[in-house]
Amino acid sequence: MVKSSSNSLRLGVNIDHVATVRNARGGKYPDPLRAALLAETAGADGITAHLREDRRHITDKDIELLIDGLNVPLNFEMAATKEMQEIALRHIPHAVCIVPEKREERTTEGGLEVAREENKIGDFIAPLREAGCRVSIFIAADKRQIESAARIGAPVIELHTGAYCDAHAEGRVEDCKIELKRLSEMSEYANKLGLEVHAGHGLTFDCVKPIAAFPQVMELNIGHFLIGESIYIGLEASIKKMRKLMDDARP
Ligand code: PXP
Repeated sequence: MVKSSSNSLRLGVNIDHVATVRNARGGKYPDPLRAALLAETAGADGITAHLREDRRHITDKDIELLIDGLNVPLNFEMAATKEMQEIALRHIPHAVCIVPEKREERTTEGGLEVAREENKIGDFIAPLREAGCRVSIFIAADKRQIESAARIGAPVIELHTGAYCDAHAEGRVEDCKIELKRLSEMSEYANKLGLEVHAGHGLTFDCVKPIAAFPQVMELNIGHFLIGESIYIGLEASIKKMRKLMDDARP
C-alpha cells in the first residue's frame, strides 16, 4: 500500500531525467534506481517513471530494475498503446498513469483526450484495473474530461498543471489566477464525482504551494525541476525542500 506522509499529500518523484542525463553518454551513470532509492530516503512516497515509445529516457530494463528494487510504489506512466499495456500487465506496477504521447513533443504537452475516446480508453484501462493496478488518467482540468474519466471507471485522475506553471514562470499574473481557479474548481468537482485527484507537470519550489493547498489533491508528481535543482543542492535536499513546501501548504 501507499505510505502516507503528513496531511495525506503524497509526493511522487519522477526520475525520468536521471535517465536523460545517463543516455546523453549511453553508459550506466547516473543510475535511475540509485536516484530512486535516494528519493525514498529523502521522503518520496512513490517513484514515477515514464517509459516512452521512443525510449528517450527510461528504458525497459530501468522499469524491471525499479520493480525489483523499490521499497515504495512505482507509478508507471504510459501511453495508451498495446505495447505499453503488455509491459504493464507483465510487471503489474502499483499504479499506472495513462498519458498522451507524441513523438515530436519535448514533454507531455497536454492532457489525454478521454471525452472523445471514452470507449477506447475505457476498454484500454479495464485489464489494467482487473490486474490490480491503480489506474490514473492524466487530463486537463476540464469538466468534460473529468466526467468521462469517471464514466469509464478510472479511480484516479491527475490534473495537468503545466499551463499554471508556465503562467507563473512567465509572470502572467492574471493567467496564473485563472489557471489556479480552474484547477481548484476541477479538483473539487472531480472529488465530488468520487475520483481521487492528483496533480503534476512543471511544478517548482516557487509554484507548488497553491496546488499543494487544494484539500482534494492527494498526490503530486514532480520530476524535471527536482532533478535540475539537485545539480545545485543535491537530490536529497531538493526533495526534502519540496516535501516541506508541500507540508507547509497543507492547512
Ligand atoms: N505527471 C505526469 C503525468 C507527467 O507526464 C509528468 C512529466 O513526465 C509529470 C507529472 C512530472 O512533470 P515534471 O517533470 O515537469 O515535474
